Amino acid sequence: MTARDSVVPSPLLAAGSPAGLYVASPDGRLVDCNDELARLLGYGSREEALASAELLLGGCLASGAGGAAGAKAPSTSANEGFLTRRDGSAVRVMRTETLTEARGERLVVGAIVDLSSSRCTEDRRRELSEELRQAQKMEAVGRLAGGIAHDYNNLLAIILNYTSLVMEELDERSPVQKDLAEIKRAAQRAASLTRQLLTVSRRGLAQPVVLDLRDVVRGMDGALRAAVGGAVELAIALGPSGCRVLADAGQLEQVVMNLALNARDAMQDGGRLSIEARAVRVGAAGGLHDAHPAIPPGRYARLVVSDTGSGMSDDVRTRAFEPFFTTKPRGKGTGLGLATVYGIVKQWRGYIELASQPGEGTRV
Ligand SMILES: Nc1ncnc2c1ncn2[C@@H]1O[C@H](COP(=O)(O)OP(=O)(O)O)[C@@H](O)[C@H]1O
Ligand SMILES: [Mg+2]
Repeated sequence: MTARDSVVPSPLLAAGSPAGLYVASPDGRLVDCNDELARLLGYGSREEALASAELLLGGCLASGAGGAAGAKAPSTSANEGFLTRRDGSAVRVMRTETLTEARGERLVVGAIVDLSSSRCTEDRRRELSEELRQAQKMEAVGRLAGGIAHDYNNLLAIILNYTSLVMEELDERSPVQKDLAEIKRAAQRAASLTRQLLTVSRRGLAQPVVLDLRDVVRGMDGALRAAVGGAVELAIALGPSGCRVLADAGQLEQVVMNLALNARDAMQDGGRLSIEARAVRVGAAGGLHDAHPAIPPGRYARLVVSDTGSGMSDDVRTRAFEPFFTTKPRGKGTGLGLATVYGIVKQWRGYIELASQPGEGTRV
């Protein structure tokens, strides 16, 4: 023990701390905490919080550093997010935590600061709880869809295999061949749908590599022009400096393509689609921080896709990311485009925002 240790006894430091301090198991089970953390979670005292043995900090504990561009996953992370309280309500918090080892056991040591009182006006609070509700809904639907998709994939593989088998064994000129080909095509379409569902639920196969978002967009120039057609003017703007992200190249291409296809659909009579990729820094105040307060400070790769199309009504905008939500006629829209984009962005710890008004185009 050093002299300093005896001047400020650590229990006092912990008890008097304005931050909620905690030790938890890697899966979020609370091992120890101070009174402030207990208060944040909605308990009267530390003892009460610790006594509820099953208490999980899961909602707020996310490993890795919140989406900073090009960052390797470090053992220490700082992030802004939500803490779910005992009564189910959510508080906006800044938390920082680190993974350590004590007596051969892996433990998470962290601190949580309540941002709700200092930062949130009533409006902002409502906005945030709406955001949380949306995230929870996406999570639930995604999990459900992902669970079903796994089983479906297996069943579809059986259908595809047997159909191919029968087609091979059957005389080539048999009139049934045409019907079998139809079955096969439908099963293939279904398999590609379930693959998308797995991406939505973040269970898709991904191969993360460090890549430059600008290269991804640059490489898609031809495909994008072909996809949006001649009536739409395409403008691509790439930032001057490295725009590195740790992500799956195919998934990023899918994000760009899904957004571009939606833009095309919204511009039946032509218009302008602009795609911008650049590295940005979100500070602790001012600038980008004020425009996007939910995004923790750090370096990010930013992708902006905007169009001059029909735009969305409030109703459509609030539901746009929902899996299977579509305003397009049957056979045209699957309602999985934006849900897939959302799933991919979240898989890589990114953030997504949507601005749209009827008649004023859309910006994602
Ligand atoms: N760029 C856009 N402009 C206008 N509306 C859009 C745009 N992108 C998405 N939407 C709306 O959001 C809905 C959901 O989009 P999405 O998830 O991609 O599914 P889908 O394109 O299959 O309908 C669309 O049906 C459309 O109403
Ligand atoms: Mg779409």
